[in-house]
This record gives sequence, structure tokens and C-alpha cells, in this order.
Amino acid sequence: MVEEPVDNPYLRDPDTSFAPVSELTEAEAREQVERLREVIAYHDHRYYVENDPAVADRTYDALFERLQRLEDAFDLHAETSPTQRVGGEPLDELETIEHVAPLLSLQSSGDAETIREFDRRIRESVGNVDYAAEPKFDGLSVELVYEDGHFERAVTRGDGTEGEDVSANVRTIGSVPLRLPDAPDFLAVRGEVYMPRSGFQALNERRVERGDDAFANPRNAAAGTLRLLDPETVADRPLDIFVYDVLLTSATLDSHTAAVDLLTDLGFRVGETDIVADVEGVIDYRDRLLDARDDLEYEIDGIVAKVVDYGAREELGSTARHPRWAFAYKFPARTGETTVERIVVQVGRTGKLTPVALLDPVDVTGVTISRATLHNVGQVHDVGVREGATVRIERAGDVIPEVVEVVEAGDGPRFEMPDACPVCDGSVVQEGEHHYCTNASCPAQLRRRLQHFCSRDAMDIEGLGEQAADQLVEEGLVESLADLYDLDQETLAALDGWGEQSAANLLDELEASKDIDLASFVYALGIRHVGTERARALAAAFSLDDLLEASVEDLRAVADVGPEVAESVAAYVDNPANVGMIERLRAAGIEPERRERGGDELDGLTVVFTGSVPGYTRSELAERLEAHGASVTSSVSGATDYLVVGENPGTRKQEQADAEGVETLDSAAFEERILARID
Ligand code: IVH
Repeated sequence: MVEEPVDNPYLRDPDTSFAPVSELTEAEAREQVERLREVIAYHDHRYYVENDPAVADRTYDALFERLQRLEDAFDLHAETSPTQRVGGEPLDELETIEHVAPLLSLQSSGDAETIREFDRRIRESVGNVDYAAEPKFDGLSVELVYEDGHFERAVTRGDGTEGEDVSANVRTIGSVPLRLPDAPDFLAVRGEVYMPRSGFQALNERRVERGDDAFANPRNAAAGTLRLLDPETVADRPLDIFVYDVLLTSATLDSHTAAVDLLTDLGFRVGETDIVADVEGVIDYRDRLLDARDDLEYEIDGIVAKVVDYGAREELGSTARHPRWAFAYKFPARTGETTVERIVVQVGRTGKLTPVALLDPVDVTGVTISRATLHNVGQVHDVGVREGATVRIERAGDVIPEVVEVVEAGDGPRFEMPDACPVCDGSVVQEGEHHYCTNASCPAQLRRRLQHFCSRDAMDIEGLGEQAADQLVEEGLVESLADLYDLDQETLAALDGWGEQSAANLLDELEASKDIDLASFVYALGIRHVGTERARALAAAFSLDDLLEASVEDLRAVADVGPEVAESVAAYVDNPANVGMIERLRAAGIEPERRERGGDELDGLTVVFTGSVPGYTRSELAERLEAHGASVTSSVSGATDYLVVGENPGTRKQEQADAEGVETLDSAAFEERILARID
């Protein structure tokens, strides 16, 4: 626990009204800057490490803003100032740097007998020992170096001897202290950078909505993010770190317990450590964690046991690769080995062709896996997958299993994307690394479009899941989304597996879906690059008739609609088949309503949110504000009136707001100043 900087005036009286910058002498400015950095670092620790903020966001923002002003006015910038977490210039490449001490790996096993054997060897050498048992975090190992208490650099593990300089990216992680109070002259620590599950899911949702590929699992997302060249993008992604080891220090430490205490006191985010008296304690600890595995906010792939006493560690020593005083007891891998029977190509809603490996079914920790995604043709070639290959597949949490490695090469031909759509024979075009079927009435696309059309945020038609959608398309009952509304009781009830009741239910759902708001309707159409947020923006800006007539320029005028999106929407509404389909939907009785306008109290107001406002979902809020004339956009620009900073906010939008001089509101201020106007 980091101590409060009790003699810091801004801790006791954070609402200090600041004298104008111009009235300060340089010495006074320096003093204030130091005090502000100290108190902001303390609040960062309370927020990011303790999950227990000590001040209101508004107050924090005021302190931060003051610090920024002073640094600018007196040219007092410093790399380890809290103002420098974000905003590093994009790099051309990552530099290679040697570690201060080798980053060794661990001997590991998933088998209790082997673990007992590791322990036996340790006891034969140094007698009975206590072990520190800790989660084995499944992320990326990094070295953090501090000199004179200042964050100097962060380096990836690399080959254990040298790695890549990822300092600018690691600096954006709020729980990484940039300065250590009362620190040893030299300190190098080791930790694991990871992406929390919830942040990973949200990031993937945003990526898919934008038309980017989803990351396969949190580890890949963290690895990809850590090596990005633009720290600003990194700052917008939810990375975090657990620090678990002192690599090298000028301080004297005699045990792991002392090391953990030091790290905790210095303000690092340290995982929990259990001290156990023997190897059976290690095994129990592992079994307990295995049960808790799915409830954690981060992935772990086992536990690590370390001899607590440094004297014993020294006696045991290390091999070139791993220390003899520690070992990992791994969980059963969520991976399995099996053979690729065939590689098929699946066609998605937007016509995207995805190669999929059909596998000899294999059980992976209780789940039978018979297919795995290969993402795109480049990936198939990079991994080297061919039919007949023995591959290792991985299932991480709830995400789609993927092929991670070829264990034994296959004898099938090199995979190539077909020139024609495997489902409809339509022509295929390549865009970037992906291939698309260009035939809008391709049945495969239709099946997916149908499912999307019926999904909750779209027309919300229950009872039309994957299987039913496939069936309706296969039976030739639905060739266009509009055909849905021509279905009748008799035809549906006669379908395989259906009956009078399920047919009646679907018809009721279809009838109820006709009462729909424009935003959900626009989303339901499944236009490429138009997710729920953009659909809302379009619905706020256009009536359905205007949207059908909109040009690229008209579309560009909508906040949040960039060139790619505008082109995509314009191409959609220019296609007579689409317009005809929409007219048929209207004729069936769907007249999407622009959301009931509550009034024009917020006309012309542009608001951006970061983090969550307690008690509301983001889309609820956007809906309410837009109904009263406000625009809710996803990025801060000079045109933004307010940035609403809720719980767990990102830092980038705040930085942008600062840079653009946009006023920020915390949740309370937002409720008082904006929601109150429309309640
Ligand atoms: S101690 C030399 N503790 O597991 C001992 N490692 O090969 C240093 N890991 O990539 C490692 N959680 O980064 C230690 N609590 C923990 C860990 C941990 C994850 C990683 C480590 C390395 C791998 C072992």
C-alpha cells in the first residue's frame, strides 16, 4: 500500500483555486509541479492499483490540467510526469535492448507427479522450503527498469537476453508507476502485460463494427497492442500489468516475501501470493485456482511456485534456461491436437470469405471442437495449414477456436481462395487481406443477413436463430429479407421440426417487429461498416427517404461517418435491389419511425462519452440525448461540446479533450447539467 503524501497541499485541499500561472515565479512553479505530480501519482495508484479512487474525477482533472498548464508555461516537461503517459510520437520501429539480467523461463508441467519430482530435487539440495504460490498470468513478460526512482524503460522478453523497447506503450498503462517514492537507486522488475477479458470483448466488438478482424484471444490482443508503433492507439486499449518478480536491484532483499512487500510499497500492481509449507500446499493452491479460473478478469494458465528464501534460491542456482528454485504447475491446456480433414470456405453476412478448418473432433477441456477459424488466406499460408495436417488448436474462453500451429505438415495442396463463391458461384474480389463474394443475393450471405436482421439490436425477432434462418433459405422460402413478411402459418407449420405453435410465435414476432425505430432498422439492413452507433448517427441525421437519396457528401457531413463508411452506405442505397427490398418491407407495414423527438432542448450539442455512467448503458444515454437534438459521437474534436468521463474511462479521449480545450463532465456534473435539462 502506497502511503498518502500527507504533507501535500493538494491532497488535503484539492480544490485549491490556483493563482494565475503568470503570477508564479519559476521556483514556485517548479515546487507546484513536483507537488502536483506526486499527488496525481497517488491518485493514479488509488484508481488503477487499489481500485479505490480517493477523489472525484472533476478534482483529478483540475489537478491534471493545472500540471499541464505549468509544464507548458515554464517548460518543465519530464518523461516521468503523469502528463506524459500518452502522447508519445509514433515510432518507425521498436528498438532492441539488452535486459539487465536474463529473463529466464520456468520448468513446467501439468502433472502432479512431475511437480512432486521438482520439489523432491529442491529438498534434496536445500532441505524443506516454503513456497510462494502465485497465479501464472497468461500475457507477455516484460522487464521494467527504474533508475533513481524514475521509470526508464520497458522491454519485452524477446529471446530472454534482449527484447524490444516498448517503453512508450507500457507508459500508457495507468497502473505502471512512473516514479517510485523512496525507491532503491536501481530497480528492474518483471511482470506480465495482459488484457482484461471485459476490455478484450469490448475491443473486439468495436473492431468488428468497424470492419476490422477480431483478435483471437486476450493474449494475442495484448501482444499485438504492446508492439504497436503508435502509443496513442495503445492508450485507447485496455492493457494492464501484474508485477511478480524483482530482477535486479541495489536494495538488499532476502526473500520473495520481502520482494513482494517492496513492490507493493512502491506502488506496483502485484498479484496475490500465498505462502505454503510444502508441495501439497502448492498442489491444493493450483486446484483451487483451476476452479476459480473462469471467474477471473484475466486469463491464467496455471500457477507458479517459487522458493521463498533467497539464500536457498542462491544455493539452488539456475540453468541457462530456468531457475532451479521455481516451477510452473500448468492447467490442462485449452488446446488440443487433431487433424485437418478439410479446409472449407465460409461466407459471412457481408460476403466475406473465411477459410475454416474442419477437424477430426477433439475434446478440449470438456468441449468438443470440430472446426476452427483460419481467418484469411494469408493466415493459412503463414501457419502452413494444409488438409491432412496435424494441428494444435486453441480455445480461449468463449471465442471461436483457432488453429495456432502445425505440428505435422499435411499432404493436401497449398490452399488458395476460390475465384468463385463456393455457395453461389458469384465472383469473388480481394480487398486487403480478405476476399468477398460480390453477389448480393448469395444464399450464404442471405442466411447471415437474415440472422443479423432478426438479432436483438436490429429487428429483435425471436425464434429466428441460425438453424431456422438456414432452413428458410434452404427451402427457398426466403430469398430476400422482405420475403420474411410473406411467410404464412401453413407453410411454416409444415417445415421439418416446426409446428403450429412455433409458426404462430414467429408470425407474432414478425408482426411485433413492424413497430421499429429508424436506427434499429438501419442497423438491421446489415450495411458494411454500419454498427449500432453509426446506425444511430445516420437515423438522427436523415429520414429513411433522405437516407435512400443521400450522396457520399451528404453522408460525410454526419459526425463519425468517414470516407469508407460514406462510400459503403452510398453504394448500398445506390443499389436498386436494396431500395426495392426496402420498399417491399415498407409495403409489408414497416414504417421505421425516427425516434420520438422529446424536444429540442439539446439541439446543436455534441457530446462524447468515455467510461460508463452508472445506471445507464451507453446506447440508452445516446438514445435519450439524441431524442432531444444532441449528437453523440465517438471521438473528440474541436466540434465537441462536452466529454463525459464516467467510470473506467479511457485516457485518450481525455487527452484529446484537453488538447482541444473541450470541457469534461464527470457523471454527477453530466446528470446535473445535461440530463436534468431533458428530464
Ligand atoms: S516468475 C525466473 N511468476 O510465465 C522466474 N512468471 O516461463 C521468473 N509468468 O513468460 C518468472 N506469471 O513471464 C513468474 N507469477 C508469475 C508469472 C510468471 C506468469 C510467466 C513468465 C514466463 C512464463 C514462464
